[in-house]
Amino acid sequence: MTPLLFPYDVTQEDEMKRPLDFNRRSHLMNVDRMYKAEIVSIIRLTEKEKLFHIRIIDRSERERFSFLPGQFVMVEVPGFGEAPISISGSNSQKGFIELCIREAGKVTTMLHRAAPGSRVGIRGPFGTYFPMEKMKGHNVLLIAGGLGLAPLRSPVTFVTENRSDFRQIHILYGTTDPSQLLFDYQYEQWRRVDGVNLDIIVEQADPAWTGPVGRVTSLLEKIDVALDETYAIVCGPPVMFKFVCTMLSNQGMPRDRMFVSLERRMHCGMGKCCRCNVGSTYVCMEGPVFDFWTVMNLKEAI
Ligand SMILES: Cc1cc2nc3c(=O)[nH]c(=O)nc-3n(C[C@H](O)[C@H](O)[C@H](O)COP(=O)(O)OP(=O)(O)OC[C@H]3O[C@@H](n4cnc5c(N)ncnc54)[C@H](O)[C@@H]3O)c2cc1C
Ligand code: FES
Repeated sequence: MTPLLFPYDVTQEDEMKRPLDFNRRSHLMNVDRMYKAEIVSIIRLTEKEKLFHIRIIDRSERERFSFLPGQFVMVEVPGFGEAPISISGSNSQKGFIELCIREAGKVTTMLHRAAPGSRVGIRGPFGTYFPMEKMKGHNVLLIAGGLGLAPLRSPVTFVTENRSDFRQIHILYGTTDPSQLLFDYQYEQWRRVDGVNLDIIVEQADPAWTGPVGRVTSLLEKIDVALDETYAIVCGPPVMFKFVCTMLSNQGMPRDRMFVSLERRMHCGMGKCCRCNVGSTYVCMEGPVFDFWTVMNLKEAI
């Protein structure tokens, strides 16, 4: 029998070579391995959010670390605790992990106070992922509200890097006001990719804003795409993805072609502490990525 080596390269798992079962359990991942890592750079995105580039210190561990769009890591600030954070960057990018983090409480505030060179711990990657392979050959709608662009940036990077594998690509992003826009320095780069449409809307304009004003659902009304040949990834607060997915469903998109990322309070990330349950479902292991059909049938999920 082949000995189990940690960390796995998840892409080498037999199960990863089978047709994607995106609800596969994350016990195949690096569940209890803590990587020593350091923050290499920090970019302020808004008043509350910063983008962290984090490098696993051990070179061979760093080279073996791999993830799929939609997965998350547990970030540990020594002495303060851990927080689950979605990986925001490209999964083809080796060398560092990009995390967009909002200052919310104990751990995230300490991260916001950290400077480049600070040491952190990383466990993971954990959880299910967006079925990007299944989406190939189809139109893709990528829809984010607010901080939802953090988990969405990874599939956005995937489709732009593998442009020829997809048909129409529409990115729709809505936020409260222009000062809350995340990754605004990348919009032109995404728009330059042939056949990628990026539409942004804010709920409250400022004097400099020239774009549309309203909710992300009003952008959806203007999209001209055959919904029965389209997959959607929707990231944002539950009230937002509920509206968006219901609207898409009413317009003819099958509910099992819409994928959302569900956030729950988490502690262990590996199915042991029961912090993240929705009924009998462990969001850390069976999620955070679910299709909308499954989410609708999870009692109290939204
Ligand atoms: C799978 C997953 C992916 C996530 N990805 C990101 C990300 O990419 N970027 C990011 O900034 N945040 C993300 N979060 C949320 C992030 O984990 C929490 O903001 C963080 O755990 C707060 O930790 P803290 O110690 O700073 O705050 P605490 O001191 O623990 O709590 C501060 C406040 O945040 C609330 N809170 C804590 N955890 C959550 C949660 N999971 N959902 C809603 N409210 C919560 C608490 O109720 C409290 O009001 C993600 C959460 C999950 C489950
Ligand atoms: S976070 Fe502990 S069981 Fe899910």
